[in-house]
Amino acid sequence: MIVAANFKMHKTRNETKEYLDELKKIKFNGVKVAVFPPASALMEDKIVGVQNAYPAIDGAYTGEIGLEQLNEFNIKRVLIGHSERRHILNESQEFIAKKFDFYKNQGFEIFYCIGEPLEVRKKGIKEVVEYLKTQIKDIDLEYENLIVAYEPVWAIGTGESASIEKIKETHEEIRKLTSKPILYGGSVKLNNIKEIIELPNVEGVLVGGASLDVETFKEMIKIAKDMK
Ligand code: PGA
Repeated sequence: MIVAANFKMHKTRNETKEYLDELKKIKFNGVKVAVFPPASALMEDKIVGVQNAYPAIDGAYTGEIGLEQLNEFNIKRVLIGHSERRHILNESQEFIAKKFDFYKNQGFEIFYCIGEPLEVRKKGIKEVVEYLKTQIKDIDLEYENLIVAYEPVWAIGTGESASIEKIKETHEEIRKLTSKPILYGGSVKLNNIKEIIELPNVEGVLVGGASLDVETFKEMIKIAKDMK
């Protein structure tokens, strides 16, 4: 079971440090825990991953960080393809695939996000699958350090997660495309995590808003521990 926290543009370096200290007071017992703080709060810690990185060692890429900066903190985990980067920062599939290849070649653990917008979901599961396939174009879905995260755009940060039926049917479809772990993300909370991680083809969760409170995130890890 995998339980991951995406802080997005929340928390400072000090707050992140306090959060990690508090988090480590509990035993994870085989649950893989990952925390993605903002780039300004990166620190050397096995739990920590980066929310975004440019596919280069270094270079003239204003505003970006690359492998050199990640190596400083021994970061070996990266989030790629998050819907906010696809839709707000306008990252193309071509660019996302470049990032994937670069960090795959560096042996990084890659949390690779896919998910459809509401207008696609409204058309039905067949169209959803077609759309998701465009988001895995040129991605090696059998890469050994890959974790896939299914995050429907309409469920992210809305407080309204996908229904259990929709998560179940979509994960079943994604399972046909990869044998790697598949996480669900999108308004995961303390009151719905259990029924989500109980589903077949759901190996964990990627949590945004609800992960910001360390006590809530600790509870989520406890629930995942009890599942094993
Ligand atoms: P949310 O975000 O839990 O706040 O919906 C999930 C994500 O974007 O990873």
